[in-house]
Amino acid sequence: MAGKIRILPEPVAQKIAAGEVVERPASVVKELMENAIDAGASEIIVELKSGGLQLIRVTDNGEGMVPEDVPLALQRFATSKIRQAEDLFAIETLGFRGEALPSIASVSQMVLKTRPSNSISGTKVISEGGEVKRISEVGCPVGTDVEVHDLFYNFPVRRKFLKSIRTELRYALLHFHRMSLAYPSITFKFIHDGRILQELIKTESFLTRVEAILGKEVIGHLKPIRHEEDEIQIEGFTSLPSFAKGNRDGISTYIHGRYVKDRIIQKAILDGYRHVLPADKYPVSILLISLPPSSVDVNVHPTKAEVKFKEPERIYQAVWSSIRRALEESPSEGRWISPGKRGESIQEGELQASLSFQGFRKPYSEVGDNGFNPPKVGEREDLQWEVEKRTPYRVVGQLWATYILCEAEGTLIFVDQHAAHERILFEKLKRKYDDGALTTEKLLLPVLLELSLEESLIFDSAEEAFKAIGFEIESVGERLYAIRTIPSFIEQKEAGERVREMLEELSFLKRGGEGSIPLQTLLISLACHSAVRANFPLRREEMEELIGNLYPFNPSTTCPHGRPVFFLLPLDEMNRQFKRN
Ligand SMILES: Nc1ncnc2c1ncn2[C@@H]1O[C@H](COP(=O)(O)OP(=O)(O)OP(=O)(O)O)[C@@H](O)[C@H]1O
Ligand SMILES: [Mg+2]
Repeated sequence: MAGKIRILPEPVAQKIAAGEVVERPASVVKELMENAIDAGASEIIVELKSGGLQLIRVTDNGEGMVPEDVPLALQRFATSKIRQAEDLFAIETLGFRGEALPSIASVSQMVLKTRPSNSISGTKVISEGGEVKRISEVGCPVGTDVEVHDLFYNFPVRRKFLKSIRTELRYALLHFHRMSLAYPSITFKFIHDGRILQELIKTESFLTRVEAILGKEVIGHLKPIRHEEDEIQIEGFTSLPSFAKGNRDGISTYIHGRYVKDRIIQKAILDGYRHVLPADKYPVSILLISLPPSSVDVNVHPTKAEVKFKEPERIYQAVWSSIRRALEESPSEGRWISPGKRGESIQEGELQASLSFQGFRKPYSEVGDNGFNPPKVGEREDLQWEVEKRTPYRVVGQLWATYILCEAEGTLIFVDQHAAHERILFEKLKRKYDDGALTTEKLLLPVLLELSLEESLIFDSAEEAFKAIGFEIESVGERLYAIRTIPSFIEQKEAGERVREMLEELSFLKRGGEGSIPLQTLLISLACHSAVRANFPLRREEMEELIGNLYPFNPSTTCPHGRPVFFLLPLDEMNRQFKRN
């Protein structure tokens, strides 16, 4: 029986953006899932042992391979998906390079079993470090089952660079979710160490799949997107301003079912949210984009996650306008109201009360008042402002409810009220923590919290850090957690929201972050979310107190995220502007 796989002729192979595709277990998961989808499977099972370090197995019920194809599949540049150079400009499959299986096989011990539907038996191949050891006939279900054992067993240095089991598992899940999000008509299952972590039953509704992966909370905030113009089609969902994230993780974009991270598309989405979300907030957007295959080049990078468009402006325009349209259709929610109080209308008095610096919510007052301990003065001697000078200053007033202007001898000082307050709170919290003086409060009734799979994995890896700052949180069911104890400076009603924000902040830690970093991150998150926001009118006493804690103005002071807290406008500069000598 003639097979479907051919070795690409040398000139075609040379045109392929080949290179390293296997970086970690997650890359294997991605490549094997792509193969299963290309094989037309309606059910795909991903199974990992020890975060994939011990085993990665992907089973599908797709078209399988005939015996003749099996040894070819493990050879470089052997593919059934393209035949000639022109095909590179009309790629409709996820794979096309004939590189994935041989690359994975060369760094692992692989067992592949496969059977096409018109055959009564299948073929099994065992390969070690890319060398085929044995091919035999085998009884197996229709489809393909690839087992990848002991990744990098023959490259100990590479293996050493892999992260902890939990971290590798999170990377793998990330790829699993990205892929399964775009294929609702396929059933996907993810098993880790014998436990089913996610089962996504096939559905005709894209929204059902989105909900299964992103969770119930976001669903009510999503607007559908449907765009069709000049051969560009966009389908998907994008969030209303009532729901925003602190990072870009909620943005997933696909071209022909391929997850891509594209600068132009990202920019178009974010530009669509300009004046709707603040600059540090990001939407949830899931966009499935189709355009003629000839107008997009996917042969740009070995991992196929980057693309090049023939007419990038058209893509930008299409994405931007589809986002705008979705947002404009909901005028009442078309503006960002105030972070932390999303979607609610805010009473002026309520805000003032919650901000009153005397009774300012506990973080500030309870954390103690022995002043702000500025970080060491550093390298920046170029600044005219000398810390030791301790020149008296005067608070002039607030600008745009966001900056505080102070006048001191020979200089004006512009302070970012949020960044400054964040730094002050952070230092105080840290000192309290170091002194073992953070008190906790046991809740009479625990606060229940349902986490997404991603959040629960982040929590598992940072549980100790949560405990260290006073959160006792216990797992009480499938992704259900009970908050039993909280730090005393937090109010019970905000406990759930604070924990969620801290988990989000932790997800910034590049899915790694071990040791003392999570603890620091939690303190930063608490400080950030308790700090006074921009666009927030302050009373004079409040400004005086804030600036009092910042004084003496230390040039190396930044907020805990690294943004500047203030800048100086020297009188000399002012005189120069007015051409005064
Ligand atoms: N799960 C599968 N079911 C059926 N055929 C498969 C499966 N996995 C691989 N194959 C066959 O083996 C060939 C080689 O797979 P491989 O992943 O190495 O390359 P590719 O998918 O063609 O390109 P790429 O390197 O871009 O992934 C495929 O072209 C396909 O014909
Ligand atoms: Mg492939």
